[in-house]
Amino acid sequence: MCGIIGYTGPKKADTVILGGLHALEYRGYDSAGIAFFEKGGALRSVKSAGKIACLENKLASEENVNTRCGIGHTRWATHGAPTDVNSHPHGNERLMLVHNGIIENSRELKLELEKQGYVFKSDTDTEAAALLIDACTRDGDRLAGILKAIKKIRGSYAFGILFADTPGEIWAARQDSPLIVGLGENENLIASDVTAILAYTRRYLALENGDVAKITRDTVTVYGADGAEVKREPQTALWDLAAAMRGGHAHFMHKEIYEEPDAVKKTLFPRIADGIPDFTPEGLSPDRIKAVRSVRIVACGTAYHAGLTGAAVLERVAGVRASAEIASEFRYRNPVIEADELVILISQSGETADTIAALRLAKAAGAFTLGIVNTVGSTVARESDAVLYTYAGPEIAVASTKAYTVQTALMTLFGVWTGLIRNTVSEDVARKYVSDLTVALPAEIKKIIAREKELKSIAADIAEKDDMFFIGRLFDATLAAEASLKLKEISYIHSEAYAAGELKHGTISLIEPGTPVVALSSEAGIREKMVGNMKEVVARGANLFVFAAGKEGTTELREMSKIAFVCPDCPETVAPIALATAMQLLAYQVSLARGCDVDQPRNLAKSVTVE
Ligand code: AGP
Repeated sequence: MCGIIGYTGPKKADTVILGGLHALEYRGYDSAGIAFFEKGGALRSVKSAGKIACLENKLASEENVNTRCGIGHTRWATHGAPTDVNSHPHGNERLMLVHNGIIENSRELKLELEKQGYVFKSDTDTEAAALLIDACTRDGDRLAGILKAIKKIRGSYAFGILFADTPGEIWAARQDSPLIVGLGENENLIASDVTAILAYTRRYLALENGDVAKITRDTVTVYGADGAEVKREPQTALWDLAAAMRGGHAHFMHKEIYEEPDAVKKTLFPRIADGIPDFTPEGLSPDRIKAVRSVRIVACGTAYHAGLTGAAVLERVAGVRASAEIASEFRYRNPVIEADELVILISQSGETADTIAALRLAKAAGAFTLGIVNTVGSTVARESDAVLYTYAGPEIAVASTKAYTVQTALMTLFGVWTGLIRNTVSEDVARKYVSDLTVALPAEIKKIIAREKELKSIAADIAEKDDMFFIGRLFDATLAAEASLKLKEISYIHSEAYAAGELKHGTISLIEPGTPVVALSSEAGIREKMVGNMKEVVARGANLFVFAAGKEGTTELREMSKIAFVCPDCPETVAPIALATAMQLLAYQVSLARGCDVDQPRNLAKSVTVE
């Protein structure tokens, strides 16, 4: 997924831009480029396939790069291979443009522009947008020309644009791909997200769909799709640069796992009053929750797994019919959405294209939509009818860890609150949950973190394998799915998550001597069945690693497993959340043992803002 940064002000723009691009590296990319006004005002671009260091090397050999205004870009190749020519910016002697998103009608635009005499150099969709904007702005009002061009574009975009005849001025436009304007003292910036601007300012505007902005070092003017000036509320990024840096950990992922105890408390405390859950200050009225006939949670990847936990809590604790769905399926399967449904969208970035599409579908059907989002001012946050922010802080590693932990904790608290309102949960039970979530859970996560060495030894056993299984029942079946995703995405080991009771219906045929199987058992009530499933795989020679909570029946678990990781004091109410930390650290250690890129695994991007 691409990264954009632009700067106009008294500082050396190339330095600011390169620093911003480094801060955006976590988004994943395979080329980078910069456009800037030379001291004499001429507009130039330098770009390169590969890492930012390749761009820096090219710039170092350039003359006259002393600039005060420019735009920069890291590209994650979609249309066109990662080559110098396909890197951004794109344009001509009149303008330079950087883009995040996909121009769906680039082919027809290209044909139309070639008829007007334009010659294309790259295989990208972006170049069509750049030359279209050139064609539309050659005469008359610049804003009108840009608006005219973007009306012809179908797809998603965040644009940063420099026009050769207006040195020091940056134009920006946004449709479905996030873009913010950083507000500094005698300087202003544009960026794909706050991480790129935190070294200069924490104040920013989030552009909305259809917005066009004109930015100079002293002024920021935002125009709506109709060309009239609009006001966008300034926001303050809660994160400072240090928080987004590694803080002494070898990897962002490791740092972010260690932040989980605090992140849980930061996320839950604002929703607790006098020891019981209370979400009314955030616009969620008890009457609305009472009127809800069913809840549907829609998300992608790890957020979807958090949704599965949320749905299970709502059904098993609050007695509300609830389900969780994958957004990329939901948006195309023509779902029946009732107006009295509550549709919850979970998203760490708040910019996942499929989740945004699901949100819009639910709203169009008249359902009340609630976003559970970690990124302030993101699209899911702004377009949902109500939003519950998680306060996990910046999650830089591509593999989501602390976001999952706070999402599942928040969904659990929300489920308990729903039960309280609907009289399916007593106040005593609610208080017990609140205590378990805000006291026991952070404490148990810390204990698990302190036992990382045990996980490292299990990881050593798994690291050489090519296939493995995660099995569990009920809440642990969901945890198994998340554990399997974590392992796959950062260690590249093929693994399968299976509802333990389902193994005998086919998949157990894959178990052979030495196959590693992680069995999760956080619920005493279903442990006997789980033990039966563990025996089935051990009988076929599996290397069994048991992760369990509580004291009951754990002696037997230890006896039958190669290594058992038991959390004896962990309350069952929060065990599936706490054990997720153990799964995250296990995946982390396996990834290290296999020499993989933990924070930026191959083929993946942090936020999937395109389909
Ligand atoms: C998480 O480890 C994955 N990298 C990925 O599945 C992620 O959870 C998914 O893309 C959803 O992202 P979101 O929470 O930002 O919407």
